[in-house]
Amino acid sequence: MKFFIDSADINEIKLANERGWVDGVTTNPTLIAKSGRNFEEVIKEICKLTKGPVSAEVISLNAEEMFSEGKNLAKWADNVVVKIPMCEDGMIAVKKLTAEGIKTNVTLVFSQVQALLAAKAGATMVSPFVGRLDDIGANGMAMVGDIVQMYQNYDFATEVLVASIRSPIHIQDAALMGADIATIPFKVMQQMTGHPLTTKGIEMFMADWKNAQK
Ligand code: G3P
Repeated sequence: MKFFIDSADINEIKLANERGWVDGVTTNPTLIAKSGRNFEEVIKEICKLTKGPVSAEVISLNAEEMFSEGKNLAKWADNVVVKIPMCEDGMIAVKKLTAEGIKTNVTLVFSQVQALLAAKAGATMVSPFVGRLDDIGANGMAMVGDIVQMYQNYDFATEVLVASIRSPIHIQDAALMGADIATIPFKVMQQMTGHPLTTKGIEMFMADWKNAQK
């Protein structure tokens, strides 16, 4: 299973990379705005930090503009993946970008059938948003399980990239379901490292070692 970091914060990406947790990066307009930096500058810098795919999202909403914006984003670095929102125009752009050999990530996917359409259009990755579905009382992970199954049934090459992750349990469930990728906020990566028994165990080992030196 691949881990992407869901961030446009260079410092966070460096920290996660140092720990061996970064197979790629996803950004979105909100994360770019939060970084307070110029879009092109920050994406180019991220692309140098990892050889893995770096998703950069288009901000146009019609097919022609998404296509030309996507073509331009793909020129910024070899590992740029063009992130396109799930909508009819988006699917036209995905089909055209795919025909040009440009990788795509279809984002804002909230249903199994949206994921099917993204795969039919030729998307490289599909991003089902689990946390935002959970937030409205639906079951985000159940959708992911269905998408993994549906893609297996028909041998779709589109990778399932689990997004909008809120907690370590989302990653555990995604791994058990066979999702290809989880894109994870840095704070959730840090939460994954901890366990109260690990902390207690380290304290005990240190104390026993100290006592044995007396
Ligand atoms: O990058 C897309 C996705 O992971 C956003 O997550 O937390 O804003 O729902 P969130």
